[in-house]
Amino acid sequence: MARGLDKSESLTLMADGLALAFQPLSSKGDGSGDLVVFVGDDLALGQAANDAVGSDGAALIARAAASERFKGKASSALVLAQPAGVSAERLVVIGLGSEKDRAKIDYLTLGGFTAGKVAGRASHLVVDWPGIEASPADVADIGLGARLRSYKFERYKTKKKPEGEEERATQLTLRVADPSAVEAADASARAVADGVMLARNLVNEPPNVLYPEEYAKRVSELTQLGVEVEILDLAKIRELNMGALLAVAQGSGREPRVAIMRWNGAADKSEPPVAFIGKGVIFDAGGISIKSAGGMEDMKGDMGGSAAVVGLMHALAARGAKVNAVGAIGIVENMPDGNAYRPSDIVTSMSGQTIEVINTDAEGRLVLADVLWHVRHAYQPKFMIDLATLTGAIIVALGQEIAGLFSNDDELSAKITAAGEASGEAVWRMPLIPAFDKAIDSKFADMKNTGGRHGGAATAAAFLKRYVGDTPWAHLDIAGVAMSSTSSEINKSWGAGWGVRLLDRLVRDSYEA
Ligand code: BES
Ligand code: MN
Ligand code: ZN
Repeated sequence: MARGLDKSESLTLMADGLALAFQPLSSKGDGSGDLVVFVGDDLALGQAANDAVGSDGAALIARAAASERFKGKASSALVLAQPAGVSAERLVVIGLGSEKDRAKIDYLTLGGFTAGKVAGRASHLVVDWPGIEASPADVADIGLGARLRSYKFERYKTKKKPEGEEERATQLTLRVADPSAVEAADASARAVADGVMLARNLVNEPPNVLYPEEYAKRVSELTQLGVEVEILDLAKIRELNMGALLAVAQGSGREPRVAIMRWNGAADKSEPPVAFIGKGVIFDAGGISIKSAGGMEDMKGDMGGSAAVVGLMHALAARGAKVNAVGAIGIVENMPDGNAYRPSDIVTSMSGQTIEVINTDAEGRLVLADVLWHVRHAYQPKFMIDLATLTGAIIVALGQEIAGLFSNDDELSAKITAAGEASGEAVWRMPLIPAFDKAIDSKFADMKNTGGRHGGAATAAAFLKRYVGDTPWAHLDIAGVAMSSTSSEINKSWGAGWGVRLLDRLVRDSYEA
């Protein structure tokens, strides 16, 4: 995929407000733009950084650090405008922390932090400091962090900034030891960045624009990357007897869709795929069990699980992942209406199992039940992982920094947990005990769609478990992490695109030949 690159050539790649290029460590700028160097808490510069700033620059850094009390701590910066004797508009010194910090640098955060310091400007980063050398993968992570940091969703802002105050693209030129090796690693990182940004766009879009049919159309654009996309329309969904999903959709003026994406990148195309399933409720008003008005606008993000699946499929295809993968998302809207499903309705899911509806706001599990069942029977996958903004209860339990993991398989669970730690998209395993399953037994049907006041995230997971059989399965409840995100060095967006990096990492580390 990655094309060959001459060592002296610099490649510029645009990703949403950021242009990234790579050059050899020895290259010299023309004095325009910022010069960025990195130091630990001893303020020592690497050889190449020292060469770039010159002896005047090194002396200036020492003096300025003393008067600014800059100690080289991680995520701190010293910015010097018009540095005398240094050929740059600004000299930016970024801290890396103690020797211990430097042994385990979080390169994503470093890239994000640095991009924030030089936002809207042209800058040269000298990726060089004493002690450790950043590997090509580390440098690619710096670029990934910078790209994710630079993402903005401004499609609906029509007011232009006054002249001279317009936002400019951030131009980062990374001077690195081996540009061609970095360029290869960066091609994959860019695929992942694009996947995350696609997911963020989908989550940030309002539901009047991103209704199911339009959503399905956007998913279809993945065919450009070689993904096979099949859209199940209302007639097809009816033919498959997806009665649970249809019940949720029937109160909406918009028809539901199910989108199925296939990427067959493994050498053996007949190898069973890995499968990812997403909740795509484009807006969750709660239905007849209507939600209260305060904060209801956040429910446009109730398709965050499906967005992660679409973003992941984009990433896998764009980097040419050597894996067979299926992504399947149920796209519906949950609305109150004269035709809406109601509490006390009994619906028949595609599996044949009947469900007594207690609360129409517990709609995500109904959608997932049918999509999980369909994927399991149509594709016999190695495993299924579903992602869903499923319960408010998981936010109460775990907050907004970590997602809940429920699984019937210890090995899959361990792999997801490890990928979470490696990617920084962390998960925490929650229990699935028989009591939760018992809580959803129904007086009238095979099961009911809520399990009472207690253990809300767990009884929702127990419901899903009834649709996966003995297929290794994991459920990620991402209600706390997918939207309304806490701002970080690599994310300033409301919709986080959470899960794309985690699952890409899982596939990369455990399922590519
Ligand atoms: N989409 C919501 C869960 C949610 C809440 C996501 C807050 C993000 C932020 C889900 O469909 C829902 O309404 N769940 C109910 C379930 C209850 C009725 C059993 C909930 O969590 O209150
Ligand atoms: Mn709901
Ligand atoms: Zn919902």
